Amino acid sequence: MMNKSLAEILLDQETIRTRVRELGLLIAREFHNRSLCIAPLLDGGMIFAADLMREIDLPLTLLPLKASSYGSGTQSSGVITLPWGIPSTVKGKEILLVDDILDTGKTLRTLSEQLLNAGALSVHTCVLLRKEYSKDLPADYVGFEIPDKFVVGYGLDLAGKYRNLPYIGTPRESSPPSGR
Ligand code: IMP
Ligand code: MG
Repeated sequence: MMNKSLAEILLDQETIRTRVRELGLLIAREFHNRSLCIAPLLDGGMIFAADLMREIDLPLTLLPLKASSYGSGTQSSGVITLPWGIPSTVKGKEILLVDDILDTGKTLRTLSEQLLNAGALSVHTCVLLRKEYSKDLPADYVGFEIPDKFVVGYGLDLAGKYRNLPYIGTPRESSPPSGR
């Protein structure tokens, strides 16, 4: 049953599960015989990354990274902060950055640069969602292209809420201003 706070569901649980499985197969094929380090961007990317990594049939390592671009969660700061910094253990690793959504692209761009500066061997990017107005922004793996709406669920929040919904939809309450 749909959460009463949502206006509509864009992607249901089964649709997400099927696509995450496909992405896992694709990634496993591409990184076959290489060693891959999955780097979920917390907090938003953790749900997606947790499901995705169980669909990648390769030996993996895990390196959660913390990034925030929406400040309090109700107002976009436009500035990416990395409260945990970048650990020196990224040196020489092939990193797959995993995030919930590509919006302005600032988060992934900032993280990719910093990881390469810190000596990562390669950085690839995987996002579950990409908004229509961001369709020209690069990402190596994209789960779904979605309309330019503020969405919640499956890791995505509005002021800290709704991350645990197993599907993705639009909230009834007003959404924060975009970071672009
Ligand atoms: P970017 O740096 O502008 O690409 O922003 C990406 C981050 O903004 C994501 O990791 C999300 O945390 C947040 N974000 C962007 N769009 C949405 C949305 O529609 N719902 C919830 N969070 C969003
Ligand atoms: Mg967020």
